[in-house]
Amino acid sequence: MVKLIGNYKINCAVFISGRGTNLKSIYEYSKIKKSNISLKLVISNKSNTLGIDFARKYKIKTQVVRYKNKNEAEKKIIKCLKKNNIKLICLAGFMKILSKNFIKRFKYNIINIHPSLLPKYKGLNTHDRAIKNKDKYSGCTVHYVSEKLDSGKIIVQKKVKVLKSDTPQSLSKRILIAENKLYPIAIRKVLSKN
Ligand code: GAR
Repeated sequence: MVKLIGNYKINCAVFISGRGTNLKSIYEYSKIKKSNISLKLVISNKSNTLGIDFARKYKIKTQVVRYKNKNEAEKKIIKCLKKNNIKLICLAGFMKILSKNFIKRFKYNIINIHPSLLPKYKGLNTHDRAIKNKDKYSGCTVHYVSEKLDSGKIIVQKKVKVLKSDTPQSLSKRILIAENKLYPIAIRKVLSKN
């Protein structure tokens, strides 16, 4: 994993596909005095998103990468990451699956946030599945990205109670609030281990 030396800040990139609330929370964390990251770059596979608007507003460098061809898209991303000397990649609602080669190349310095208590409900429609299964709790997980989807080592999790009255939308709203709090905690944990 990436090494923290003294007060040196780790250059970080956030990958998004949409709204960017987790991007916002990572950005806010990067701005606090004690933070150990410098948010250098936002990569998105879509151009007209709230996340991209946010990054532009706060003058974070952005790169929109079209995914017509995965190999080409990843080549472009790698070039951009190298140029910006990125050491930590935070996936925050990035809805593309990274190739095994990409993951290996970044020596597993990639983390992801997922809206369920992994290993439960990998993939999509997590809130729907938690409600249908009458789970008492759902939540969110930040984990290392490995070659298998949503299966890397868990860094931190936060439980959220599922209410009888919940719809996937209402549950996702509460879990998103928990996600936004959890991501900075995960980053701090990952970097303080070194
Ligand atoms: C978040 O709920 C995140 O957990 C989810 O996308 C949303 C992005 O929200 N990610 C996944 O489902 C990945 N499997 P945001 O754009 O507001 O951060």
